[in-house]
Amino acid sequence: MIPLVLSGGNGTRLWPLSRKQFPKQFHALTGDLTLFQQTLKRLEGCVDEAPMVVCNHQHRFVVNEQLRALGMDAHSILLEPFGRNTAPAVALAAMQLLADGRDELILVLPADHLIADGHSFRAALKLASEAAETGAMVLFGVPARHPETGYGYIKGGQSGSGPVKGSVGVEAFVEKPDHERARQYVADGGYYWNSGMFVFRASRFLDELREHSPDIYDTCQLALSCSKHDGHHIEIDSQAFQCCPDDSIDYAVMEKTRSACVVPLIAGWTDVGSWSALWEVQPKDAQGNVVRGDVTLQDCRNNYVHSTNKLVSLVGLEDVVVVETKDAVMVAHKDRVQDIKQTVSGLEKRQ
Ligand code: GDD
Ligand code: MG
Repeated sequence: MIPLVLSGGNGTRLWPLSRKQFPKQFHALTGDLTLFQQTLKRLEGCVDEAPMVVCNHQHRFVVNEQLRALGMDAHSILLEPFGRNTAPAVALAAMQLLADGRDELILVLPADHLIADGHSFRAALKLASEAAETGAMVLFGVPARHPETGYGYIKGGQSGSGPVKGSVGVEAFVEKPDHERARQYVADGGYYWNSGMFVFRASRFLDELREHSPDIYDTCQLALSCSKHDGHHIEIDSQAFQCCPDDSIDYAVMEKTRSACVVPLIAGWTDVGSWSALWEVQPKDAQGNVVRGDVTLQDCRNNYVHSTNKLVSLVGLEDVVVVETKDAVMVAHKDRVQDIKQTVSGLEKRQ
């Protein structure tokens, strides 16, 4: 099973720390290792194959440096000229594997997750690889606890409906429903959040992609055939890739396939998508504050404060996020951190 790390996202909701030039997956947001490094490190002892990485071409140095710090070599690093979302990223990697004569199982790994319980994660991986050996497109499902709209929702089938014991069939997959539907799913029960990790055989995935999203299949084939190979690095041709539709694997394939099954994942999984998610998973002081860097607090509760350069002092505040970097300071209510995305697109238009 070949790990495939997707690390081409921008992580805009973690602005101003996460930037296009240096997005969140390459930051050590919790502990000493970056999210990208943690993604690889948690495979130790269960997946030995060298990983493939798909990232933006401007991140080749940071990816190499962070792999080297772990003492790892990549199988290959695919460099995209620009992001076209996750369906093309996975397609390029699967096509490259087939070109190398390796029609193996691929373990797709987003690089923006935390998983507290490595033991349970590895047990789920083992089950997923057994299920994928039967030809299934395997998803990892985290029992849905609240109506989070940033996730895909999987309706699991009856127990015993999956191809191997412990997995279940997928009755429906709905990517990022609106709040009302998400609320209904959680109230109905039997729904999982899609963790964004998948296991399938390279050729199985490509068959599904060709059936459901032929434009992505065709443009990725062309872009890979025109790409430049330089040792481990494969520079995807920008002219051909330009025509590739922008779509996620969830919309392009997972909502449509009839061969999906789900392996439950109960392992303290979190997508570190926002400052409030980061606040939730970090150790807190007695008043519920999470603090990084040079910070003083007086009568403050449940805040997230991150300083990288200056001393930051808060007085009498509750449920606030403050992030200070060399060139920007961001202050937001903890309930509004999803809206940072709009702030960032506003800033992009201003430039
Ligand atoms: N190479 C590459 N190219 N990687 C990308 C691109 C791209 O264009 N776009 C995103 N990625 C990477 C991100 O860096 C991240 O590691 C991973 O792919 C997932 O992308 P996100 O943009 O973070 O997806 P999401 O969180 O909105 O949604 C996905 O994950 C959720 C769980 O965290 C979906 O799979 C949802 O269904 C799922 O619930
Ligand atoms: Mg994500």
